[in-house]
Amino acid sequence: MTAPALAAVVLAAGKGTRMRSETPKVLHKIAGRSMIGHVLDAVEALRPERVVVVVGPGMEEVAKAAAPHAVAVQEHQSGTADALRAALPALEDFTGDVLVLYADTPLIRSETLRLMVEARRSAARPAVVALGMRPADPGAYGRLVVGASGELEKIVEYLDASPDERAIGLCNAGLMAFDGARIRDIVGRIGCENAKGEYYLTDAIEIAGRLGHSRLAVEAPEEDVMGVNCRAELADAERVIHNRLRRAAMDAGVTMIDPDSVFLQADTKFGRDVTIGPSVVFGAGVVVGDRVEIKAFCHIEKATIETGATIGPFARLRPGAEIGASAHIGNFVEIKNARVEAGAKVNHLSYIGDATIGTRANIGAGTITCNYDGYNKHHTEIGADAFIGSNTALVAPVKVGAGAIVGAGSVITQNVDGDSLAVARGRQVVIAGRAPDIRALAAAAKAAKKQD
Ligand code: UD1
Ligand code: MG
Repeated sequence: MTAPALAAVVLAAGKGTRMRSETPKVLHKIAGRSMIGHVLDAVEALRPERVVVVVGPGMEEVAKAAAPHAVAVQEHQSGTADALRAALPALEDFTGDVLVLYADTPLIRSETLRLMVEARRSAARPAVVALGMRPADPGAYGRLVVGASGELEKIVEYLDASPDERAIGLCNAGLMAFDGARIRDIVGRIGCENAKGEYYLTDAIEIAGRLGHSRLAVEAPEEDVMGVNCRAELADAERVIHNRLRRAAMDAGVTMIDPDSVFLQADTKFGRDVTIGPSVVFGAGVVVGDRVEIKAFCHIEKATIETGATIGPFARLRPGAEIGASAHIGNFVEIKNARVEAGAKVNHLSYIGDATIGTRANIGAGTITCNYDGYNKHHTEIGADAFIGSNTALVAPVKVGAGAIVGAGSVITQNVDGDSLAVARGRQVVIAGRAPDIRALAAAAKAAKKQD
């Protein structure tokens, strides 16, 4: 038997005035991914036949974030029911189940969506299923009014609720599942006689009842369905998501010494038996291989770290850093747009940018690539098994061949052939017994100064 068809509508046209931001609310990021991105991830896991994202006029950036899904434009932001109506033409020939989601509810899990769809398909055949939660602080959420029989009777918005209704702990998470054959009829009847003068989607419940259809509420934990309307709620959601990401990483075989101080992104990828020390921050686009150790206080973004490599403490891997298997990146080392091949070591106080460091090469303390001439970036290439002495400046573009040795303190401006020794600094001069003379001269000068 094939499963009944499923479509999803994501409402994202709201102005989000409570965010006080130039950026549309649903593009604000949580753990490096936009709110709408998180919602679409959860929706896509159910493989719906069709997804329609409702945006406001001029919200091109939101429409871009919705791709490859269909976009419908809600001309005037006059409420959530009006927003859903804007999506209905795109579902004209659709009679399966329709999930309606709010793009400002970014913590929603696909498991919860499945639960709603199952409830919609349950024996009672409810025309509408609403998702409820029991938050510690119900605040201004809409309230779910459940009758003695257990049937969901209506949803009242906080501003329109009586004191008795405000005392109800079961709140509206905002998500609904509709019978696609009835959605047009129900939503078409919603008016705007309420405190805000808006078309409330929440009225769908009472209207479905009046039409003789059954309605059902299912519940989810607050953590999964909290709405984000202001920056403080954005920070709350961020906290929840980081906890989830850390938990998922640990479940997948990552050891964290102090998980609360480690910040992951939605796209961070880990192999097995990775160990992460305290206070490590991951930006977007990081891939970490098996048995990698990342020591305390590292900052890593758009970087790949291969099997068995050791990073930090206090290392910074910037975009384009590729660290090969068993390589060592030590303290106060910054790597940008550079490949460090397997077994190579950059252990102390270095900047390696726009470079290739060959297999097993050793980069001495304080070595830097001078990759930028004020206008352009240039490449540095260090061959396999090369040894670069401490405090070397590699003035790019420049190549040091395989097995070459560069003396400490060199400023390398010309290519060095493989297996050659290059020393590019002033030669050391030693004058035996000269130090006492210098001290005498200095002491005399000091005495003369005192007499003045
Ligand atoms: C809504 C619910 C409330 C629920 C809460 C849960 C209504 C009337 N109220 O309130 O019961 O407790 O969510 O978080 O539904 N949107 C549009 N077009 C509009 C208005 C809103 O697309 O004209 C979109 C927004 O972008 C947002 C979502 O709908 O993603 C919800 O809108 P919002 O204004 O945040 O509603 P709440 O006041 O949070
Ligand atoms: Mg909201």
